[in-house]
Amino acid sequence: MSPERFAPIRAAFGPEALGRPVRVRGWVLRSRSSGGILFVVLRDRTGSVQVTGRRDVLGEAAFEAAEHVQAEGAIEVEGLVAEDRRAPGGREVRASAIRVVDAGQPFPIFADQTEEFRLDKRHLVVRSPEHVATFRVKAELLRALREFLEREEVLETTPPILSGNAAEGGAEAFQIDYFGRPGYLSQTAQLYLEALLFPNERVYALTPSFRAEKSRTPRHLTEYLHLEVELAWCDLAGLLEFEERMVVGAARALAERCAEELAVLGRPPDELRALAAPFPRLRYAEAIDRLAAQGFPVRWGSDLGTAEERALTVEERSPVFVTHFPKELKAFYMLRSPDDPRTVEAADLLAPEGYGEMIGGSCRETDVDRLAERLRASGASVPEYEWYLDLRRHGSVPHAGFGLGVERMLRWILRREHIRETTPFPRTPSRHTP
Ligand code: 4AD
Ligand code: MG
Repeated sequence: MSPERFAPIRAAFGPEALGRPVRVRGWVLRSRSSGGILFVVLRDRTGSVQVTGRRDVLGEAAFEAAEHVQAEGAIEVEGLVAEDRRAPGGREVRASAIRVVDAGQPFPIFADQTEEFRLDKRHLVVRSPEHVATFRVKAELLRALREFLEREEVLETTPPILSGNAAEGGAEAFQIDYFGRPGYLSQTAQLYLEALLFPNERVYALTPSFRAEKSRTPRHLTEYLHLEVELAWCDLAGLLEFEERMVVGAARALAERCAEELAVLGRPPDELRALAAPFPRLRYAEAIDRLAAQGFPVRWGSDLGTAEERALTVEERSPVFVTHFPKELKAFYMLRSPDDPRTVEAADLLAPEGYGEMIGGSCRETDVDRLAERLRASGASVPEYEWYLDLRRHGSVPHAGFGLGVERMLRWILRREHIRETTPFPRTPSRHTP
């Protein structure tokens, strides 16, 4: 059987397939035999179909070989597409030949195994229908985000992952031995994107970011996919408008393109389709008042943790912007608010229903002296950032940017309990294998 002569399984469900010969191949989802007939549900990337094989048609030896194929074993099938009302999708392939590619050993994954065991066997668990659906939605999400950025004429760039600087401060950076000197894994591409902004005006990067946070929470990974955008001539209002158009566009694209996957995962697509701009905007000061009124022990200057973010959004169906944070809570590069020197032109976008921050963004400080002063105040070593300060010496212009945590967004979109379910091989403080 030459490879080009195999059809994708979905072809067996086409209007012209009925009564026709077909060759399909893939992995056995499940199988049983009774009364000299073998029933196999066969899966490939395009779907699954019931295959039946009769002992008297296949022959004794071939029948027995096929009968011994385990779940997730691989076979090739030649047969006729027929109607069968009891089969999923109303069709089956009546096999005239079955070739065993790999009978496989007993598949070790069952329902009700412990989470630890399932994480140890992640390389096999990724075959589950939920994971397959999740990672297809993730691929579609990345495609939708890229399509949006392309329409907006934002240039994709490739900043480094390895650096001699710990961009946002050392505490949460993974340090490595770079030929005897300290090196760091990127926490953010932002500083490099700012350098690339000047010749290109609008740039983005989609890269892994690393955070050496020991946080064992349902929303922290130590390695995650970070979509970062940097826009010249952009103020805070423009930034928020850009972010919300991007999020609405991506959510709607998923509702249109991923109906099947969303059904597998129990996520109604109409809620994603109904998402609309503008998202509610809440100043940090108002957020604090609201939380204090609810009994949270917060005052001006308090950071918003998981519980606070949850309280602000648990009743919301739309993402919510929180803006104008105290400068002490935020990174050194954020622009001081023109109307209030205590706050910065920053915005976090919180996912609805308590899923928490999914985007962090701000306008960037353009003045070289103020930037150096904020760096010193943050305890950073200013000489390490000389190259970044240089950017403010040669045509410094107003600009703004943001970072979106792809897994954070997907966790909300798919309503997964834990962020590790949004990435095939999750990295957390307690695990970096398999
Ligand atoms: O808010 P953060 O730390 O912002 C930055 O790094 C900026 N330099 C980005 C920029 O403006 N270019 O991170 C941005 C986003 C967060 O909103 C969150 O969605 C995600 O990255 N994120 C994480 N996702 C998963 N696991 C973690 N440990 C994360 N830490 C941040
Ligand atoms: Mg943040």
